[in-house]
Amino acid sequence: MTENGGVLKVAMPKGRIYKQASKLFRQAGLPIPEDFDDSRRLIIPVPEAGMEFIMAKPVDVPTYVEYGVADIGVVGKDVMMEEAKDVYELLDLGIARCRMSVIGLPDWKPVIHPRVATKYPNVASQYFREQGQQVEVIKLNGSIELAPLIGLADRIVDMVETGQTLRENGLVEMQEMFQVTSRLIANRVSYRLKNTAIQTLCDQLGRAIAVQGGV
Ligand code: PRP
Repeated sequence: MTENGGVLKVAMPKGRIYKQASKLFRQAGLPIPEDFDDSRRLIIPVPEAGMEFIMAKPVDVPTYVEYGVADIGVVGKDVMMEEAKDVYELLDLGIARCRMSVIGLPDWKPVIHPRVATKYPNVASQYFREQGQQVEVIKLNGSIELAPLIGLADRIVDMVETGQTLRENGLVEMQEMFQVTSRLIANRVSYRLKNTAIQTLCDQLGRAIAVQGGV
């Protein structure tokens, strides 16, 4: 429970990041039952921890937090950079570690106005603008690696975690753009009204992260 008597509403990313996030929360001493790891429920009360989890599509987590329907959320730096929402970024959780990279076929030849396919059009546009390169950005929603293989794009901007998708599709990483980990974010008003509960959670998570060797 928070100082205002309410539960802390936490926007959690559905899917593989949730398992890492719930594990970290448990390592921080929060009693999050493991049965939720494979659950399809979208609103999960966790009264033992004074929380309620809102299971969101990862890309939507900052929206729930910005509008205040979630007080805090767990979200990748990739989504934070793409969505640029008005929220506080409180903590680097050090989980779901990967990188955002420019990727292409190994025999790629420079062209005047290359097409770049990505799920991250804002991130890609800003990156190439800063590099002084004119590109046409094509927004896709998944399986981005298909684009250079079938001639839709010259390059892609996408996440690389193990590199398996690239290897299995004969693609190479041309430039690493930035490292990505999940962050704890907070709604600006909630951060003031539920400050004790949020700060306590940050301290608990911070200690658990330090035990794992920091971020
Ligand atoms: C992500 C990302 C890459 C892949 C990288 O895709 O977009 O395709 O994972 O992981 P790897 O380096 O370990 O192979 P995701 O699985 O989220 O699916 P998507 O195709 O729908 O984006």
